[in-house]
Amino acid sequence: MVITPFDNKPPSGGGNRAQRNPAEKERFVLAHLSDPHMAWAGPVKKRDLLNKRLAGYLKWRFFRNTEHRREILTILKEDLDNTRPDHIVITGDLTHLGLPAEFKKARTWLQSLGTPSQVTVVPGNHDAYVRSDWDRTFACWLDYMRSDPPCRNGGRVRGLDDLFPTLRVRGRIALIGLCSAHPSAPHLAIGTVGGPQLRKLETVLKQTGDRGLFRIVAIHHPPLSGIVSRRKRLTDAHALRGVVARCGAELMLHGHAHRMALNTLDTRSGRTPVAGAPSASSSSSDHQRRARYHVFTLTASENACNVHMGRRVYSPDARCFIPEKGTVSPVTGPLALYRCIVGKHGTRIG
Ligand SMILES: [Fe+2]
Repeated sequence: MVITPFDNKPPSGGGNRAQRNPAEKERFVLAHLSDPHMAWAGPVKKRDLLNKRLAGYLKWRFFRNTEHRREILTILKEDLDNTRPDHIVITGDLTHLGLPAEFKKARTWLQSLGTPSQVTVVPGNHDAYVRSDWDRTFACWLDYMRSDPPCRNGGRVRGLDDLFPTLRVRGRIALIGLCSAHPSAPHLAIGTVGGPQLRKLETVLKQTGDRGLFRIVAIHHPPLSGIVSRRKRLTDAHALRGVVARCGAELMLHGHAHRMALNTLDTRSGRTPVAGAPSASSSSSDHQRRARYHVFTLTASENACNVHMGRRVYSPDARCFIPEKGTVSPVTGPLALYRCIVGKHGTRIG
C-alpha cells in the first residue's frame, strides 16, 4: 500500500495559520490538547447547582480554580500561532460544570484557535456533567465536532448519540472522534462508548483502513487500563480495545488523566501508540500535571509514514510553552520518534 503525500493545504475559510514552506509540503502537523476546564467565573444560579454540579462547584471554588488558569490558555494560543499546526484535536473537558455559560465561553476560545474545519473536538465527562439542554450546550460546538459533510441524519443532530463516531478526512489523515461522555453519579467520572458506537467504529476503521488513510482515534477517557482509577475509568475499554485490535488504528489520543502518558496498544497487526495529554491550563507544581500539548509531525514517504511526537510544556518561570526533551512518563519509556509502516498486513512501529 502506497501512502501518497499529505495535502496540508489549510482548509478554506481563513484561520490564523499561515502556509508553510512548499519544501515541507509532505508534512502534516497535528496538535493535541485536552482538558482546559474553562469554568464560568460569573454568578451561578442556585437551581443550576441542585445536582451533581454542587460538589464540582465547591471543589472548583476551594481547590481547582487555582490550578486551571485562563492566562495559560492565552499563552498556549500564542504558542500555537507559532507552531502553526495543520489541525488541532481537543479531547474533552473544555468546561468544568457543563454550564451553558461555560459552553459559550469555550465556543469563543475554539473560534480563537481556528475554524471548525481546523479544530476537532470530542466531549469529556465534565462537559456532560448532568443532563442538559442540547441547544444551550453541545449545539454551541456542533460544527467543531461533527463529521465532514454529508452528515448522517440529514445533518439533524439532537444529541451526542446522533453524532458519534465522527469522521473527518484531511488529506491522508482520518480523524475519528468517539464520545465517552455521559452523566454519571456524583462521585464518579466514568465514561462509556457503548455498543452502537463501537459497531459504527468498526465499520469506520475498516473503511478508512481500506482507503489507506492514517487513522487517528480521539477519545476523552484513556482506552488502556491502569492510567486512571476505577472511578474514572472507561467502562467498556476492553471492548474498545477489541475493536481497535481487530481493525487497527495508527494513533490513539486521549485526555482525562491530567497527566502525560504514552503507551502502546497491541493489535493483531502491530502496536498502536496511545498518547494522553494533560490539562492544557494546569499551573500545577507537579511537573507531570503541568500544562502541555503534543505536536505530532507526520511525514509521508513512498510506503510509510514517519511520526514524530513533540511535547511543549508550560514554563511558569518563562511564562511561555517550551519544548520538552527526554522521557517524562514513568510508565512508557522513550518513544519520541517512531516509524509507522502502513502495509497490507497493518501497521508496525519500528
Ligand atoms: Fe475528564
